[in-house]
Amino acid sequence: MAIQHGTETERVLEARARYVARGVAASPIVVARAEGARIWDVDGRAYVDFAGGIGCQNTGHNFPAAVAAIHEQVDRYLHQCFMVGTYEPYIDVCRRLAELSPCGAGEQRSLLLNSGAEAIENAVKIARVATGRPAVVVFDYAFHGRTLLAMTMTSKVVPYKRGFGPFAPEVYRAPAPYPYRGTDTDVAVAALEHLFKADVDPESIACVVLETVQGEGGFIPMPADFLERLSALCHEHGILYVADEVQSGIGRTGPVWAVEHSGVEPDLVVSGKSLGGGLPLAGVTGRADVVDAVPPGGLGGTFGGNPVACAAALAVLDQVATPDFRARADALGTKVRGRLEAIAARVPQVGEVRGLGAMLAMELVTDPESRRPDADLTKRTTALARERGLVLLSCGLYSNVIRVLVPILADESDVDEGLAILEESLTEAASAA
Ligand SMILES: Cc1ncc(COP(=O)(O)O)c(C=O)c1O
Repeated sequence: MAIQHGTETERVLEARARYVARGVAASPIVVARAEGARIWDVDGRAYVDFAGGIGCQNTGHNFPAAVAAIHEQVDRYLHQCFMVGTYEPYIDVCRRLAELSPCGAGEQRSLLLNSGAEAIENAVKIARVATGRPAVVVFDYAFHGRTLLAMTMTSKVVPYKRGFGPFAPEVYRAPAPYPYRGTDTDVAVAALEHLFKADVDPESIACVVLETVQGEGGFIPMPADFLERLSALCHEHGILYVADEVQSGIGRTGPVWAVEHSGVEPDLVVSGKSLGGGLPLAGVTGRADVVDAVPPGGLGGTFGGNPVACAAALAVLDQVATPDFRARADALGTKVRGRLEAIAARVPQVGEVRGLGAMLAMELVTDPESRRPDADLTKRTTALARERGLVLLSCGLYSNVIRVLVPILADESDVDEGLAILEESLTEAASAA
């Protein structure tokens, strides 16, 4: 996007280039204000937001109930460190996570953290202590974060891994189902069984960690029969099943957790992103006998479960657990999918429309026969969309997937406007190819 001279945007971006680390990817949109599915920049331009700060706004920017709860908490206290001063908002979030937990019957406990990566690392710590085993199994196309262990578990070299080694030990990778690219449930299960024979003793595996809908890897929903067979294999070998629901959870796909679509019960569920309604908050939830394997002092952190973030999360969880929210997510998913499929019927470079509920994407290819990933077309589409006033994200190992993460509570007119811009932008980009 050409930056106009003499604008506020130019002034801020110049300062950014001067002071901010180059390694943090740069956006040309300088935000002044946001509400619902709308963002306004410092020069007064309005955007429809289909990104939500990467899936953090399932309830929309400045969700009023969260903002009110934040204001109320800000006037009481901002920080205690839960290990120094006990406060109720932390306990209340854990109570709500227990009530909503997909991890089966029995008492549930939670631990609150600052980020998805930190929560993933803590889930692995818990699984290791609970099983007394060292190994972790992850999957192709995974994204679990950018800290050492989470980065090791992530499956994309550039930009997430190149130059950042050595990586953490005892992480093993298996193919995950990706039907569009030839890996179905049978192939993935066979590969996992092969891994157990060839590379890692299943009796030394603490946990498998799997995103229920793989997010950064390309919005690939895990088939229910794969989750069932994975869970059965885990039971057989005493391996814990950790569901990474950092992006797919908190109502994104309809139910609070995407894994609920399958009926499979993970041992631990990891939450983040939309949980804090825009404030940094993440969680690990699971059965008490698993989570409480770690003795006092083994888990924690200075800011994890910050009271202001917890106040926001309580408002978010109350909202996403309602039948009305579920109905909105289902209706939004149906609407967006229908529109993406209509685009796919016209534009041959749309190889596949896929997703679960309102977590939807289009995979772009040079042509339907070769299915060669088209990262250039994807980039041109997101750039054209931005010029027309839509914030749109790509994803995928080959950066050739366009994803839609519009707030579930978005106004109908914003969704329509965003979809129209998406369609125009892709049509223009594809016809120029
Ligand atoms: C599925 C999944 N897990 C973990 C993470 C890491 O979360 P964070 O960026 O908050 O560390 C992400 C972030 O995109 C994610 O999508």
